[in-house]
Amino acid sequence: MSDISKLSSGYEILEFEELDSTMLTLKDLALSDCNIKTVVIAKRQKKGRGRHGRVWESPEGNLYFSFLREAEKNLNNNMFAPVFIVALSLAHSIIDASEKKIIPKIKWPNDILVNKSKIAGILIEYINIKNKKDLLNIGIGVNIISNPKKSIYPATNLQKENVNISPKMLLNIFLNQFDKINKIYKVDGIEKIFDMWYDLGHKIGESVSVKVKDKKIIGTFNGLSKEGSLLIINENGIEEVILAGDVFII
Ligand code: BTN
Repeated sequence: MSDISKLSSGYEILEFEELDSTMLTLKDLALSDCNIKTVVIAKRQKKGRGRHGRVWESPEGNLYFSFLREAEKNLNNNMFAPVFIVALSLAHSIIDASEKKIIPKIKWPNDILVNKSKIAGILIEYINIKNKKDLLNIGIGVNIISNPKKSIYPATNLQKENVNISPKMLLNIFLNQFDKINKIYKVDGIEKIFDMWYDLGHKIGESVSVKVKDKKIIGTFNGLSKEGSLLIINENGIEEVILAGDVFII
């Protein structure tokens, strides 16, 4: 560990040169009862993890960090709220970092795209601690100066899109956005978060294909369910409710 610093937003930043994964280090810290506002950032990861068990390539120069949030108490209604809050915070961080020159798109559930190419990804894992509230371990990777050449989605990076920013500066912008959007959620509820998501997310009627395990569904986006699942009208005109999958814009 090279440095411990506190940002204005009250987060405690633990900075590492190299880790296997910020997810693993933060999980260990959470299990030993660390401050909920702990953030783990690494310059490089040896075993960076992506969604669906994929590898997240993590060479130096990009942003890799994990932070904690309490899981939702009312799981029936708002289980997916954090997914949307984090995606919105990240998309708005890129808008801020680019001085509004870039308006990213959010691909359900929480990939951030610029020019139809993935620029950032979010991984959310549960941490159960006996006799304590469940926590979410939220990991974010942003392609700042490089992106994987081979991946299931086309990819880009901020430098390629003419935005020059350091990983730590982007982290700072993100933490401020995250606090701001959490406050909006507390005051105005999930409906406001969904409204904000629709501004940057898929448009009704947009053609998409979704891979759910071995099944491929081709259809059009028909909105989000009240819990945040993806609604697709399939080729037979029937609405399908998608809880998890890989979405491709076609
Ligand atoms: C995705 O597949 O889109 C999610 C990628 C999440 C990558 C980040 S990088 C920081 C944190 N540590 C990891 O090992 N993964 C997440």
